[in-house]
Amino acid sequence: MARLRVGVLVSGNGSNLQTLIDLCAAPDFPAEIALVVSNKPGVLSLERAARAGIATRVIPHGDFPDRPAFDQAIDAALRAAGVEFICLAGFMRVLSPQFVERWHDRIINIHPSLLPSFKGLHTHAQALAAGVRLHGCTVHFVRPRLDDGPILVQAAVPVLADDDEHSLAARVLKAEHQAYPLALTLIAQGRVRVEGDRALIDGRAVDAAACLMNPQI
Ligand code: GAR
Repeated sequence: MARLRVGVLVSGNGSNLQTLIDLCAAPDFPAEIALVVSNKPGVLSLERAARAGIATRVIPHGDFPDRPAFDQAIDAALRAAGVEFICLAGFMRVLSPQFVERWHDRIINIHPSLLPSFKGLHTHAQALAAGVRLHGCTVHFVRPRLDDGPILVQAAVPVLADDDEHSLAARVLKAEHQAYPLALTLIAQGRVRVEGDRALIDGRAVDAAACLMNPQI
């Protein structure tokens, strides 16, 4: 069985990367992580990958004159490793439209909010300030606009009365650890197709399997 060759882009801790590593560790899982690229040296993500025997590259964004040059180096590294599909897992750089278009419908991201609410940074503070009762995370296909693109999986968690940014972030992160493996599983199994602005699962625009309500966290 040919396994889908996945590249994961990271910037930090890599707890989401770890869930993808664990998922792909099963020999019969239809995807494998071919390369982990970090724009920051010395981060835990790199250690996690190395521990799992996965090739890593550090490509510091500061080494490049502009965003397209940085993105070109990432693109070259991914292609050299035979990567077919990209997962962004806590990758904290905005990718150029050229890069995103080159990987159109072959790149997904996890964002710590129920999109389209709370794009950008400090999503948990945004959610608390807005007084929402439900918060969560979204795995979506990447488009040139920030935190935009067809939604694949969402996981919702409650916002509790005594939550602060920290407690809410921790609850959402646990939900992320269920949502991202589910998303990659659906992709690797060939069950996902993008049509316009919608991601279809098994041909359906809405699929209960991709909607995690208060997952067991
Ligand atoms: C996660 O919460 C992820 O959703 C977020 O960064 C964290 C990375 O944690 N990503 C973004 O905010 C991207 N805009 P991790 O390194 O432990 O996976």
